Amino acid sequence: MALELGRAKGLSIGIIMDGNGRWAKKRGLPRTAGHTKGAEVFRDIIRYCNELELASVTFYAFSTENWSRPMEEVNGIMKLFGEYLVMAYDYQKENNRVVFLGDRSPLPEKYQEQMNDIEQKTRANTGTILNVAVNYGGRQELVHGIRILAQRVLAGELRPEEINTDTVSSVLYTAGQRDPDFILRPSGEHRLSNFMLWQASYAEFVDMDVLWPDFTRADLDRAIEEYNTRSRRFGGL
Ligand code: FPP
Repeated sequence: MALELGRAKGLSIGIIMDGNGRWAKKRGLPRTAGHTKGAEVFRDIIRYCNELELASVTFYAFSTENWSRPMEEVNGIMKLFGEYLVMAYDYQKENNRVVFLGDRSPLPEKYQEQMNDIEQKTRANTGTILNVAVNYGGRQELVHGIRILAQRVLAGELRPEEINTDTVSSVLYTAGQRDPDFILRPSGEHRLSNFMLWQASYAEFVDMDVLWPDFTRADLDRAIEEYNTRSRRFGGL
């Protein structure tokens, strides 16, 4: 049964797209084939998030640790990312605000220009915020933010005792956005894997036994229904 209207509207979700390699292995295909199918699913789930009127969705596309994979696989993912960047201009029509999380400095210059351009062009859009985490690590994000704060302290613009949780949130890649309500991880794994460490402090964790390339809109419905059964107390009673 389709998700009841309004059960998803306004939610913020983080998605760890996992299981591409296993999906390919099961079919005797190269790992890159799993990523290609995963990229198709990624694009369809984006469209569905728009239909559901989510406040934001964050996709973990490439972690700071993923560089250690074989060169062929890294190149395959980067090629898919390049294809996505060309398509991302369509999200202007979809009213998405696109934000890239992570350190983009090691990425090809052309990609960096496109990323900046897409962010600029979609900045005033009021639909679902679409965060794409590339060369992203939660710890690295915190280090990056702490350096910004340290520089402000050094410049005399900020006193150490003025630093609070809001100040820290404001120097993360997700500055100004609200925290995710839940983190979804398909493929049966139960780890956060350096994803949104600060932002996920009070997020629910929803794991699903489906590999990302097999993930469907109905699976997202099920994840949202699961989230809606949880009782969130934020440390209170
Ligand atoms: C994890 O699965 C997935 C990745 C490291 C890459 C995710 C990339 C995509 C879904 C497609 C590309 C999209 C963009 C925008 C770049 P895994 O390979 O670790 O799976 P396994 O645990 O089964 O080996």
